[in-house]
Amino acid sequence: MNTTHDTVLATRELNAWYGSAQALFGVDLEVRAGEVIGLLGRNGAGKSTTFNAIMNLQVRTSGEIELTGRTLAKRSVDAIARLGVGWVPEDRRIFTNLTVRENLELARFACGDRDAVAVDDLVDSLPLLDKLIGRRGNQLSGGEQQLVAIARALISRPRLLLLDEPTEGLAPLIVEGIATAIQQLPEMFDVSILLAEQNLPFVTALTSRVYVLETGRVVHTGPTDVFAGDAELQDRYLSISIAS
Ligand SMILES: Nc1ncnc2c1ncn2[C@@H]1O[C@H](COP(=O)(O)OP(=O)(O)OP(=O)(O)O)[C@@H](O)[C@H]1O
Ligand SMILES: [Mg+2]
Repeated sequence: MNTTHDTVLATRELNAWYGSAQALFGVDLEVRAGEVIGLLGRNGAGKSTTFNAIMNLQVRTSGEIELTGRTLAKRSVDAIARLGVGWVPEDRRIFTNLTVRENLELARFACGDRDAVAVDDLVDSLPLLDKLIGRRGNQLSGGEQQLVAIARALISRPRLLLLDEPTEGLAPLIVEGIATAIQQLPEMFDVSILLAEQNLPFVTALTSRVYVLETGRVVHTGPTDVFAGDAELQDRYLSISIAS
């Protein structure tokens, strides 16, 4: 694949199928070191499917997927995580009967003997975690769960984080807190981020470029500020627009 030295994720001609139903059609993406890139599109556009395809879960794929120059396609989900992809699914999947510390320690354990981040170091880096650390999963708000899910994905020191609609169902004030936390991750953890979202103000605050999906195809890509200023594009491809 034709990529540059600072390419973290590249997909080329990525197709994906649920059974016999094709859900992605020739998706080309590139995320470079330190970038936060938006993956936009309406409900059912194919955002989560793109993540499923990268993680080799639920879908059958064809095409190329590379992380820092290494092929991911056809590897097991464990191998993909070990190679450096951290995935925060839409439903967050915090263990509700375990404390936040136990949730994070469990993720460390799942990393095996690799160079995992110590839970206390994670709390030092993300101070919002401090007051949550002794609480059980079922004692967390949606925004707090999102923060814990992101922290958990960072434990294995991924090169790429896949965040699937982190603001879904959250109040605007909480969204601001999540945005502040996400903003500092690339530098703090040396990680790039692919952010699936429908919340355009959030995407505008965090990302430099966007890919827009419709029915499993990339229908627009370019700088975030161009998309954020183009009401016609937004009307065509999103449910809510911000430009007037
Ligand atoms: N497990 C599945 N089995 C079959 N089809 C699926 C499955 N999951 C998703 N699809 C289909 O794949 C297409 C893309 O869905 P996907 O979940 O990727 O959209 P999305 O952009 O993440 O939407 P949302 O914003 O609602 O999360 C849709 O047509 C959807 O119905
Ligand atoms: Mg989705």
